[in-house]
Amino acid sequence: MKLLVTGGAGYVGSVVASQLVEAGHETVVLDDLSKGHANAVPEGALLVEGSLLDEGFLRETLSGGFDGVLHFAALSLVAESVEQPERYYRNNVVGTLNLLEAMVETGVRRLVFSSTAAVYGEPEEVPIPETAPTRPTNPYGSSKLAVDGLIRDVARARGLCATSLRYFNVAGASGRFGEDHEPETHLIPIVLQAAAGTRESVKIFGTDYPTRDGTAVRDYIHIEDLGRAHLLALEASEPGEHRVYNLGNGSGFSVLQVIEVARKVAGVDIRAKEAPRRTGDPPELVASSDKIKTELGWKPEKPSLEAMISDAWAWMQDHPGGYE
Ligand code: UFG
Repeated sequence: MKLLVTGGAGYVGSVVASQLVEAGHETVVLDDLSKGHANAVPEGALLVEGSLLDEGFLRETLSGGFDGVLHFAALSLVAESVEQPERYYRNNVVGTLNLLEAMVETGVRRLVFSSTAAVYGEPEEVPIPETAPTRPTNPYGSSKLAVDGLIRDVARARGLCATSLRYFNVAGASGRFGEDHEPETHLIPIVLQAAAGTRESVKIFGTDYPTRDGTAVRDYIHIEDLGRAHLLALEASEPGEHRVYNLGNGSGFSVLQVIEVARKVAGVDIRAKEAPRRTGDPPELVASSDKIKTELGWKPEKPSLEAMISDAWAWMQDHPGGYE
């Protein structure tokens, strides 16, 4: 297939783009490089630099006879979304609306969208099924939920074959592709920076949660397992249909457990300091991924937290300056 990967110079997008190239698909990456890195675009994929907010550019890019779009380009910092909600709605919602309109105009039928567990907010039950109420607690989650609804409605009206994948906590690295965010806010890279000595210590955000050790629990999924789900999702949905799948491992690890495993993997001590809870962080987010397992036959091959942290650590050691 000929596929467009928006945000294909970012952490998840670059790994999926490399999996698509490897599977023999003709792959074009569209990225404005505001967060992504030009040298994260895999060999064999073409990089087209531009923004989803530029409708003419989108139409022109998509007019090259694409079979589908994998849509990762988005802003994704929770705290920033609280400060700048307009920017999040413009980039994430208006950007996707432009993309959908350009797809309809140019006859591109297949779409896989990068959604998030943040749409569930504070869950009533864990593991969280796709049928759980969606009550996001920040503008980032609200913008992604709005996009899920937008895609559902446009898919139905225009006969698109669409799937939203709701990621839990993506971790690890894949070959030469890894996590390089500026600023870095995610737990595992921060813990590993503390192990490498490029950061003095890790702040543990909240030690009074109603969890086994008082720290927040998350469901970590290896980036390669997450990536493979996109290739399955691409061909799953029928015209007019919008499918929604959670993507996680179904088991939770606390912040303290992550730090402990990282100490073992890196073989060094990691300084950690207790800090107040981070606003909007739920105590526990663990996925039920039964639906994608049953319907698409997806199965995680690297479910161990140790494997994820080892891969992230190896990547960080090979790329001390990230992608620069
Ligand atoms: N944490 C710390 N110290 C840090 C960083 C994080 O204690 O320095 C804690 C957080 O409070 C949280 C856990 O580690 O309890 C994981 O935090 P991350 O920032 O790595 O991930 P989140 O669970 O907050 O965020 C992820 C995605 C978001 C998404 C969110 C909800 O990165 O895009 O899940 O689904 F919105």
